Amino acid sequence: MTINVLTLFPEMFAALEHSVIGRAIQSGVVRLNVVNIRSFSKDKHLKCDDYPYGGGAGMVMTPQPIFDAVQAVDPQRICRRIYLSPKGQTLTAAKAKQLSESGDLLFLCGHYEGVDQRAIDLCIDEELSLGDFVLTGGELAAMVAIDSLLRFVPGVLGSEQSAVDESFSDSLLEYPQYTRPRVFEGLEVPEVLVSGHHENVEKWRREQSLAITSRLRPDLIENFASKNTAKE
Ligand SMILES: C[S@@+](CC[C@H](N)C(=O)[O-])C[C@H]1O[C@@H](n2cnc3c(N)ncnc32)[C@H](O)[C@@H]1O
Repeated sequence: MTINVLTLFPEMFAALEHSVIGRAIQSGVVRLNVVNIRSFSKDKHLKCDDYPYGGGAGMVMTPQPIFDAVQAVDPQRICRRIYLSPKGQTLTAAKAKQLSESGDLLFLCGHYEGVDQRAIDLCIDEELSLGDFVLTGGELAAMVAIDSLLRFVPGVLGSEQSAVDESFSDSLLEYPQYTRPRVFEGLEVPEVLVSGHHENVEKWRREQSLAITSRLRPDLIENFASKNTAKE
């Protein structure tokens, strides 16, 4: 799988060189191609932004360098092309999984006041948001999307079960996790987890998941209930 990223700040993507995602890139499970939009600018000073028509604060990214960068990276229109934007569909675990199964991807990161609408109309398949807030640029959003979708790509996580057995995988939040020592600052690991009784452990985890989700995210419990009713 190849993930292309178009950005004015390629150096920010050094954050993906570490840990699980860094290993996935090094081992070749995923190819990360970070492209500097500025190198496609036909402006003599390599300018990539300009004042907005109609006035208003801030600068807008010009369409030409973006259009040419997209054409160079994905000439056959093979990639699913995504613009990170507060107007987009919100990233969820289900969306991350869907993107992980979409073949090669191209992420366009906006900056300043955003991107000239014509670049979006000409080049982009969908817009993706991290949530109802505004970031200074799409770079952090792209990294979050890449991290979350790569967890669903076989070979990225040590144990493939990890992406399945996790918060949101079945519409529920995860149960509490414990490791050594058995007693820490007077707090003990729940007895059932050291009992060695696999069935009881599973039952306890399920109950904890349901209780935590009901308390913290009643909206998820409604989804969970309607999914399970539909299955019956
Ligand atoms: C300052 S924002 C532009 C916001 C735009 N003027 C608006 O009000 O919708 C600059 C860039 O950050 C990215 N961005 C901002 N908020 C985002 C979010 N919630 N999700 C994904 N990307 C976001 C987009 O790529 C955007 O072009």
